[in-house]
Amino acid sequence: MKKVLETINLNKYFYKPVKFHVLKDINLSIYSGEFAAIVGPSGSGKSTLLYALSSLDREYEGEVLFDEIDLKTLTNPKLAHLRNKSIGFIFQFHYLLADFTALDNVMLPGLKLSELNHEDLEVKAMNKLELLGIADQALKKVNQLSGGEQQRVSIARALINEPRIIFCDEPTGNLDSKNAMIVFDMLKNLTREFDQTILMVTHDDSFSSATDRQIQLFDGKIIDKL
Ligand SMILES: Nc1ncnc2c1ncn2[C@@H]1O[C@H](COP(=O)(O)OP(=O)(O)O)[C@@H](O)[C@H]1O
Ligand SMILES: [Mg+2]
Repeated sequence: MKKVLETINLNKYFYKPVKFHVLKDINLSIYSGEFAAIVGPSGSGKSTLLYALSSLDREYEGEVLFDEIDLKTLTNPKLAHLRNKSIGFIFQFHYLLADFTALDNVMLPGLKLSELNHEDLEVKAMNKLELLGIADQALKKVNQLSGGEQQRVSIARALINEPRIIFCDEPTGNLDSKNAMIVFDMLKNLTREFDQTILMVTHDDSFSSATDRQIQLFDGKIIDKL
């Protein structure tokens, strides 16, 4: 299977308020089409690892290879392009633009990429909203939607440029159990029906156990990745 991501001896330190070794000798590969979870107690380094893997943070020692390219060798414009085209992000809080419609929010990363004209992009964005079961909410402003609907808009937005991988940090953490289940099932479905690669941080065992693989972090170290 093709590797989407690989880390080689990844180590990271925080220097403030005191020197702290937060990620310790992380050697990890993520393969195309897999649904993998990063699990571990609060403070074990899950979010920090996800930021490094997803190119949001390049202040580390060692290498992170994305499709065999060392992220540290990319110039900032190249990195920005890779992020927009090849990576989808879903966080606990949605970071959607509250005053814009769901449809506008989904189109935004596509406008930035500018591979499609406005009309085609709008059709594509509607298809993504449809896939997430919220096409009927397309013209509502984000602040008029429920938390579960907002998170589904975030997923549609993450999908618009057909990314190689989607990174999620506690995507269900802010939702009630019913909506958390809906959002989780939709993520899983993307991996099953469309071969979407997803790497998800969660501390919820009931969700992580339903993924293909659990990468367990403890105190900044991988203790299991089966
Ligand atoms: N910017 C930062 N500066 C210093 N320490 C940090 C910073 N961000 C996180 N940490 C510390 O690093 C550890 C791992 O944090 P984090 O990756 O957020 O853990 P998790 O997501 O597993 O809860 C924690 O002890 C946290 O307090
Ligand atoms: Mg975290």
